[in-house]
Order: sequence, then structure tokens, then C-alpha cells
Amino acid sequence: MDLLRHELIEGLTAEQMYISSKFFYDKNGSKLFEWITRLPEYYPTRTEKTIIREYGHQLFAHLNHVDIVELGSGDSTKISLALDAIPKNQRESITYRPIDFSSVTIERSKKILSKRYPELNIEGEAADFTKLKNLPNGQPRIICFFGSTIGNFEPEETQNLLSNISQLMNPGDQLLVGMDMIKDLTTLQRAYNDSQRITEAFNKNILRACNNILGTNFFIPDYDHRAFYNEEKNRIEMHLEARSDQFIKSSYFTGRIMIKKGETIHTENSHKYSFETIEQLAHNSQLSVRNVYNDSQKWFSLVQMVK
Ligand code: AVJ
Repeated sequence: MDLLRHELIEGLTAEQMYISSKFFYDKNGSKLFEWITRLPEYYPTRTEKTIIREYGHQLFAHLNHVDIVELGSGDSTKISLALDAIPKNQRESITYRPIDFSSVTIERSKKILSKRYPELNIEGEAADFTKLKNLPNGQPRIICFFGSTIGNFEPEETQNLLSNISQLMNPGDQLLVGMDMIKDLTTLQRAYNDSQRITEAFNKNILRACNNILGTNFFIPDYDHRAFYNEEKNRIEMHLEARSDQFIKSSYFTGRIMIKKGETIHTENSHKYSFETIEQLAHNSQLSVRNVYNDSQKWFSLVQMVK
């Protein structure tokens, strides 16, 4: 059977049921996420963009003959802020290499960026960046991993991902990672429980995505959105809680999966970091933190790591 279906079934039959957060981003979910990034309560995207704008000159203006690799490139707004900081005649010598799971996303950003920066070389790749085996070896690289996507992984997976990237890096390469910081509980919990309930719609959309891929019979009104901060694990957790007993069927498995009233399906972890945990992650990956760029409230960090 198809890998994605297999992964979904594995999650639905686990002791604590889960659906991997990568399933959020179908067409509808990607639109909802873009909506989230503009919500007053959702500070991460806005804050990271402020940091890239503020330090873009320092980080990017001198770049010449480099590869800018972007992991999980998504929409092209953040890299545009970086590219804007580079003089046009230098951009000619730069190759932008977006790596994203979705080939549609890659094509779209190629189109937008080649129009905006006709002098830029663009070589996109549709790939799973958690399984990268190599990087082109012609020029020094600056690897950008924006958006605090790193926060979605379990600590061990995060460590493996960073170690893997580190192994692919040459001396002189750098890695720029966007990481969301631990902050007051109210700010954190509001960001995932917005008053317009877009995050709720985003969370529930994962059931529709599951129905589409696996042919399950999840009925969205049967579930409540739950998002809370787990202080022990320093992460926001999102779940969907069954409002009554549910029986889930699919032609891809036999029998039914029962979900009891009050039981939850875990849909996302969004880890928050301290300067100490950032140092630790870098150190354990044979990287060193050269600089941490912050907004004035230190709500978000753009971390520059080198080999
Ligand atoms: C895209 C993973 C950074 O964790 O804040 C937004 C996704 N989930 N609202 C995050 C998300 C709920 C987001 N990341």
C-alpha cells in the first residue's frame, strides 16, 4: 500500500492516536495556514519577517557566488526579503535552491521569483528534506530553514535532522534556522486559539485530508479543537477531541477503529526553545551558534549556525 496511507493507519491505530502534521498542508490547509499567518494572535510569521528585514543586510548583502538552499520553502515571501537585501549584480552569481515536499509549491515559487529576480539562477527540487543525501557542491551554501517548521519534530528527530544537515555542510557553509522561543503562556496559547477560529478550522481540516487520502468517514462536527501548552515538553500540542463515541471505517483496513468520547487525536507539536536548548541542539550536531538574531521581545530567533 501507498506510504502515506500506511503512515495514516499507523497513527490511527496507535495507543495515543495521531495524524502527522504534514497532512495539514493540502490545498485547503495551505490556504488556511496562510490565513493564520496574518491573524493578530499568531505572532511567529510576522516576527520572523521583522527579524529577516532588520538583519537582512547583515546576513545577505555581502553574498556572492553562493547557493541559497531553502528547506521547506513554501511560499516565497521570506526568501524574497533576503534576496531584496542583495544587490542585483551579485544576485547573478547566486543560485537559489528551494527544496519542498510539493512540486506544485516549487513551481509556483520559481515562477514568482524568476519574474521578480530575472537575474537569479533557480534550481528547485521536490524532495523530503528530512531525507537529504547530498547538496550540490559547487559554491559555498547558506541553508535557510525558516518558519519554525523545525518545531514540529520530536526532539530526537530534530537532533537527527540537524546532524544530517551538519554532515552535508562544508566549512564556510552556514545554516539559518527560525526557532520560536518560550514565552508567557497567554501569548503562546492565544496564538493557537485565535478568536476567528481559523486555527480550529486548520486543525479540523486534517480530518478532511485523511478522508481524502484514506477514504475514512471522519465527520468534522464530531470533534473539538484543542490547543494547549505542555510545559514539561515546552511545546504547543494540538489535538482533536471526540465529542461522542466514534467508529472509523476505511476500505484500506478491516474492521473499525473506535474513538471513545473525550479521546483525542494528536495532530501537532510545536516546540518552543530557550537559548540553552538552541546551544545544545547545535552542539550535539557538531555545529556552533555564531549569532542569534531576535526581535526586541525575544519572541523568535533566527539562529546562525556554522560548522
Ligand atoms: C508552520 C509549524 C510553524 O507550529 O506554529 C500554526 C503551524 N499550527 N498554527 C506552528 C501551525 C497551528 C506552525 N508551523
